[in-house]
Amino acid sequence: MIPIKSKEEIKILSEANKIVARILKSIKTIVAPGINTKELELFAEDLINKEGAIPAFKGYMGYPSSICASINEEVVHGIPSDKRILKNGDIVSIDLGVKVKGYYGDAAVTYSVGEISDEAKELIEVTEKALYKGIEKARAGNYLFDISWAIQSLVEDKGYGIIRDFVGHGIGKQLHEGPQIPNFGKPHTGPILREGMVLAIEPMVSQGTWEVKVLDDGWTAVTLDNSLACHFEHTIAIMKNGPVILSKE
Ligand code: MF3
Ligand code: CO
Repeated sequence: MIPIKSKEEIKILSEANKIVARILKSIKTIVAPGINTKELELFAEDLINKEGAIPAFKGYMGYPSSICASINEEVVHGIPSDKRILKNGDIVSIDLGVKVKGYYGDAAVTYSVGEISDEAKELIEVTEKALYKGIEKARAGNYLFDISWAIQSLVEDKGYGIIRDFVGHGIGKQLHEGPQIPNFGKPHTGPILREGMVLAIEPMVSQGTWEVKVLDDGWTAVTLDNSLACHFEHTIAIMKNGPVILSKE
């Protein structure tokens, strides 16, 4: 069973996710060649505190940081480090989760560092577009894997790889609730979507293969062929008139 949230719960989830949206937008203003990912984390932690929120990722299954910062071929779960200095032409995916009044917010964006290649720009554009195509299918009466197929078909039509080892998820009083939301799947299959479901939809896309491996730090997932990877995530609520993006200002 996929949990259904009340109007009151969705209000708190909206609050938590708006905080995530604001902080991600602030992080964008300091992403530039020369800054390291530990500095991005410290900046985010300061804002999380000022918002009166709690970092959701720190300590989650032993993850050591408040954000994930994944550079270039890193797909997800890059651990911030003062040794990882952003340079012109990089792309960096920032994933942030917070807890507010017992409920979670979760979203991710990929930012460019300085001037990036046209190929990298296109990867970012397509991944974000795939996220919005998936969100568009998050409607009461549709099937869960309608979302998955919308994402997969757009990504694969462009010749990119859709990552299969990580998935989106329900979100509420837990960071990860049912259902799992793969970014690939057969349309018109899976659980039927209902009003009141709150979902974190998060396509991860590679310029090359969809296959990934996890580095020796136990967290950082990189593409197996070292091709560039991109990640966007929104938390959305299924309402009467369709999907509402909660992780948006
Ligand atoms: N958005 C990612 C997810 O939902 C972030 C989790 S990072 C972790 O899986 F550190 F908390 F695991
Ligand atoms: Co997530």
